[in-house]
Amino acid sequence: MDIVLSGIRSTGKLHLGNYYGALRNFIRMQEENRCYFFIADLHSLTTHPDPKMLHENVKNVLVDYLAAGIDPEKSVIYVQSDVKETIELYLYLNMHAYLGELSKTASFKEKARKQPDNVNAGLLTYPALMAADILVHRADKVPVGKDQEQHLEMTRRFARRFNNFYGVDYFKEPVAYNFGEELVKIPGLDGSGKMGKSEGNAIYLSDTPKEIEKKVKRALTDSGPTVPNSEKPDYIENLFTILRVVSTPEVVEHYENLWNRCEIRYGDLKKQLAEDIITVTAPIRERVIELSSDDTYLRKVAQEGAEKARVSAAATLKDVREIVGFKRF
Ligand code: TRP
Repeated sequence: MDIVLSGIRSTGKLHLGNYYGALRNFIRMQEENRCYFFIADLHSLTTHPDPKMLHENVKNVLVDYLAAGIDPEKSVIYVQSDVKETIELYLYLNMHAYLGELSKTASFKEKARKQPDNVNAGLLTYPALMAADILVHRADKVPVGKDQEQHLEMTRRFARRFNNFYGVDYFKEPVAYNFGEELVKIPGLDGSGKMGKSEGNAIYLSDTPKEIEKKVKRALTDSGPTVPNSEKPDYIENLFTILRVVSTPEVVEHYENLWNRCEIRYGDLKKQLAEDIITVTAPIRERVIELSSDDTYLRKVAQEGAEKARVSAAATLKDVREIVGFKRF
């Protein structure tokens, strides 16, 4: 059985893009693999979050993931900062991570541009912490999006370098993992490429039906096609892309036909789209509401997850300390 691991950003609530882009894959993966899913609260410190908000953010993410179908009986779900072994491994990896390569990382350069007043060392060594997350469980596969591929490549390099330096064959080189078909990229409703929190165009799994209707209604459209069977502009194609994941094939075909005959009424399309998004998200939203007020259950999940994660992480660190040369007196 393969070990699969992924880190989840602890900033903010989950949206449809997260759900179809990643989460649904996680849910399927947990049937066939030993899965570790953790909430990356240590990584979030690079942007100096308000201490009063930190726990709330972690809780929201935990609730969203459980509500959407991550099953703590099947997967190990834990909070990154509960597993201190990660931090220790991060330190060892940092000793073999070089300024040149770290400062050339795309995510570092982007963050340095976005927050020029806060180009801290944690930001620089973000890839080493991510490598520690992965290597601490000696994971085989990591489900990541395109934006994380470089980090995964660096993880492989750090693993190789550790092995070479100490003359061991200890860390495996993890590979990127997609479950089954291509990942669906959910576009924004504003005609932009991608649905995202920072893009301000997201529909959240916990949005109320009213909020969903309002957001869909605001989606960018035009006066409609005038030439039969014409190509759709991006912002219309985006609506169809979402329709294809939340609706039935019959519904999609119906609107495709209307489009092709230049008879489409965007008001109807939007009404249908909102309705189907609501149908898909309603059960998740109900669970979100239930779980949010069940602190006893959340504590149990977080504690048990951390315990299980620590067993695996402690075994790795015991070996690593020995390899590095630390001995007990
Ligand atoms: N960097 C990832 C992101 O921004 C989150 C993350 C942290 C992660 N550690 C990880 C993902 C380990 C996969 C494996 O989305």
